[in-house]
Amino acid sequence: MAHPDNLFLDGVTLCAGHKTILDHVTLTVPITGMTLLAGRNGSGKSTFLKACLGLVRLQNGVLLVKGQPPETACKQIGYMPQGLNDAALMIPAISHVMAAMNGAQWGVSLPSRNRRENAERLLALTGALSFARRPLGLLSGGERQRVCLAQALTDNPKTLLLDEPLAALDHEAQHQIVSLLDTLTRELGISILMTSHETEALDGKVSRILKLENGSLHV
Ligand SMILES: Nc1ncnc2c1ncn2[C@@H]1O[C@H](COP(=O)(O)OP(=O)(O)O)[C@@H](O)[C@H]1O
Ligand SMILES: [Mg+2]
Repeated sequence: MAHPDNLFLDGVTLCAGHKTILDHVTLTVPITGMTLLAGRNGSGKSTFLKACLGLVRLQNGVLLVKGQPPETACKQIGYMPQGLNDAALMIPAISHVMAAMNGAQWGVSLPSRNRRENAERLLALTGALSFARRPLGLLSGGERQRVCLAQALTDNPKTLLLDEPLAALDHEAQHQIVSLLDTLTRELGISILMTSHETEALDGKVSRILKLENGSLHV
């Protein structure tokens, strides 16, 4: 059912270039709490997250994220793409967060003082305030992920789509990020759909695992 807690697919076919990622998939699954999107490298996890945001078109079928088509749903989704491009590494952490504000809205943006205060609030929430003024390129992997999470949290999203947020982190940093994500789901009621190969760090924290393989998606 196209329920506000669900991810809903009806006859969805999704391709990336010549590769078929989803082949006529019909599935309804809740995405409250933390959901892990698993699958081998190249199975199409990143492409599927982009389809949920309306960045990649379906070949066929209907996809609804929390009851809404991707183009509408994306206004209430925070997205953390896989990896950071080199250009971002020179930018101070706080500017990275401020740059994303009002990204999905029309109209007049917040005055810069409010934007700064808002960015500081988000950086504090993710434990990144103490390095807010340092360029991303000079931060550790775990520190950088905290800044990227603060960026994804701008505009108060109800859902977060996180693409490999634990990649390239040591075990301790992985556990810290997972515990932060767990807090976001429990205290702010945010639904998290994330890709990761680090299943050990996620032990006991994910509500369900969605497996993407050979053109199918199942729980
Ligand atoms: N824009 C594109 N054009 C052509 N092929 C693509 C494109 N994007 C992704 N692919 C291919 O689709 C497959 C799935 O990619 P991706 O979604 O990045 O997988 P995953 O995130 O699971 O590793 C890969 O084989 C990749 O090379
Ligand atoms: Mg990927």
